[in-house]
Amino acid sequence: MSTYSLHDLDQIVIDSLASVDALGTTEEFRERENELEGKRSPFAILQKTLGSLDADGRREAGARLQNARAAVRSALDAKWIVLAKAERDATLERDRLDLGDTVVSAITWPAEAGHSGLVASTQRSLEDVFVGMGFTVADGPEVETDWYNFEALNIPPAHPARGMWDTFYVELGEPETVLLRTHTSPTQIHLMEHAVATNSLPIHSVMPGRCFRRDTPDARHLATFHQIEGLVVDRGISFADLAGVIETFTRAYFGPDIESRLRPAYFPFTEPSAEFEITCTICRGDGCRTCSQTGWIELGGCGMIDPAVFEAVGIDAGEWSGFAFGFGIDRCAQMRHQIADMRALIENDVRFLRQFA
Ligand code: PHE
Repeated sequence: MSTYSLHDLDQIVIDSLASVDALGTTEEFRERENELEGKRSPFAILQKTLGSLDADGRREAGARLQNARAAVRSALDAKWIVLAKAERDATLERDRLDLGDTVVSAITWPAEAGHSGLVASTQRSLEDVFVGMGFTVADGPEVETDWYNFEALNIPPAHPARGMWDTFYVELGEPETVLLRTHTSPTQIHLMEHAVATNSLPIHSVMPGRCFRRDTPDARHLATFHQIEGLVVDRGISFADLAGVIETFTRAYFGPDIESRLRPAYFPFTEPSAEFEITCTICRGDGCRTCSQTGWIELGGCGMIDPAVFEAVGIDAGEWSGFAFGFGIDRCAQMRHQIADMRALIENDVRFLRQFA
């Protein structure tokens, strides 16, 4: 063990500070810390010699020793901060991910993004077909009063035709019965009322939207489904105009191989009325489970506006005539893409959804 003298204390401090300054790594710091300031340091050794001094000398020398040791201690603390930071920075620098190479080459590009569902994109293409034929697109409420969904459409309360639509009622009776619309036909009423109020007849519009029926879902029906309604009110409109629009639409949307046909039917708000059917695209007309072996799929209904409807909204049936149609958007998606069971549209199975990206 070296011997030290209190006379050398200043020199010891100078040498110690120089040694602290020369420390290059935290590892070296740990190795040398004890001999610079700890139990093996000159200060600890000198401390032991204080016992041989008288009381005054011990107090004075003790204070000098303590100050000297504190100076070295604080130099060590400061040095530790510098060394540790330098080493941490070096580690971070070494381990940094190179976003320019490593990461970008590991991910797929472009990143995978979501897309519209099949029903939404079908609705958009149907709108496009009708816009191309000169129609505008309008929107109506999903929650309706009994008047819009039924009465104004020539279906008075307790009329047997109400059985054609299994209705979800929100509120029964006074002051008004409120329900979820069972078809998009109530939007016709809103449009005609608006045209009368703003004196803006004629009307050539389509109205897509969500409808609701108390139906048990099966291969061709959903309880929540979508229709697109069409309404033309103008002067001199005839059934031939209606048939022409239906035929033009069918060819534009389904292509030349698919035939359409109109079959006599009954709707309270049109007269005459027809059902609009197309060749079943699943079996191409041969008959299958989806079309109940008929070879045809019903898309919707249509007909000439009944004068009782014109009367309900205040349109003069002597001056104006018109037609309406309404058919299933989900059913169009089903037929366009040969989806045997329509329930696939609401199951959200990504393997199904991905096919229509
Ligand atoms: N709203 C009828 C239905 O959903 C379809 C239809 C619309 C019929 C327009 C005639 C005219 O059953």
